[in-house]
Amino acid sequence: MLGRLNHVAIAVPDLAAACATYRDMLGAELSEPAALPEHGVTVVFIDVGNTKIELLEPLGADSPIAAFLAKNPSGGMHHVCYEVPDIAAARDQLKQKGARVLGNGDLRIGAHGKPVLFLHPKDFNGTLIELEQE
Ligand code: CO
Repeated sequence: MLGRLNHVAIAVPDLAAACATYRDMLGAELSEPAALPEHGVTVVFIDVGNTKIELLEPLGADSPIAAFLAKNPSGGMHHVCYEVPDIAAARDQLKQKGARVLGNGDLRIGAHGKPVLFLHPKDFNGTLIELEQE
């Protein structure tokens, strides 16, 4: 089921400041910011060759990362995203094995225009996992 690491996501309180840090201190090349109102975040991607880093800033009043940033005010690692060849089959298998899929279990379109889902961190060693269709 498990495929490549697609990205590691870092929640940040100030996307412009985080971009400046990655660009000016680490010499990273950044994507343009993309607002994803359905997911309550604005994202910037950094291609690091073997995977990507996703910087996430809250967007809107009920952003899913607002609580995370309240607990981690300077930001922090938020989730890892793995690719899977068949996300609907992966969801069904995972639910059958007792894993909790966040939300109502419907697949949503993620930052790359492909279906994604999120798995409950309590079922995966305290790590929020995103699965993305390959
Ligand atoms: Co992600």
